Amino acid sequence: MKRKIRVAVFISGGGTNLQSLIDSAADPEYPAEIALVVSSKRTAYGLERAKAASIPSKVLRKKDFDADAQFVSAAVELLHSHEIDVICLAGYLKLVPEEIVREFRHRILNIHPALLPDFGGEGMYGMRVHEAVLAAKARESGPTVHFVDEIYDHGNILMQSKVPVLEGDTPEKLQRRVLEAEHKLYPQALKKLALDLITTPNS
Ligand code: GRF
Repeated sequence: MKRKIRVAVFISGGGTNLQSLIDSAADPEYPAEIALVVSSKRTAYGLERAKAASIPSKVLRKKDFDADAQFVSAAVELLHSHEIDVICLAGYLKLVPEEIVREFRHRILNIHPALLPDFGGEGMYGMRVHEAVLAAKARESGPTVHFVDEIYDHGNILMQSKVPVLEGDTPEKLQRRVLEAEHKLYPQALKKLALDLITTPNS
């Protein structure tokens, strides 16, 4: 097999999806390796997960730069210096700069905790998503892994999985059920993309 696809995972919080990717990538047969973790928050617990797995990490915040262009250059340089092929957003709450979306087109994934195209878009994150699913009386929910473009939760869908919405569900209960499904789906979706890139590198 060609070398493994090198992945940067972007986080802003707890990083349970990051952990599921790290755990899957520990399998020598898995076609991708988690080579870098980028956080938009200094206090994100996911940074501890990176450290525990000896993965380099970096806190990258727009507010630490005088101009947006400098932030973007620092991000691009960081990705290049770690020879990153693919970016996985995992609870990253910022919009990815257009320059990075352009350079990594079809090579940036996001996981969203509902069945897109429903229950997505700007402001639809965290518990709000599950509250909206319950308010709409949807009978099923589940995570979506999609490609990232310039619009929140908009790019092509790569994979989805479904969980039932149960009688008596609260947003918290539904969130737990969906999150469990996320931890299975994201490693599968990344594997699919990595294998596609390895077999058709110029696509
Ligand atoms: C997940 O529900 C994911 O779908 C959403 O943000 C949450 C991140 O959770 N994009 P974690 O930080 O991976 O635990």
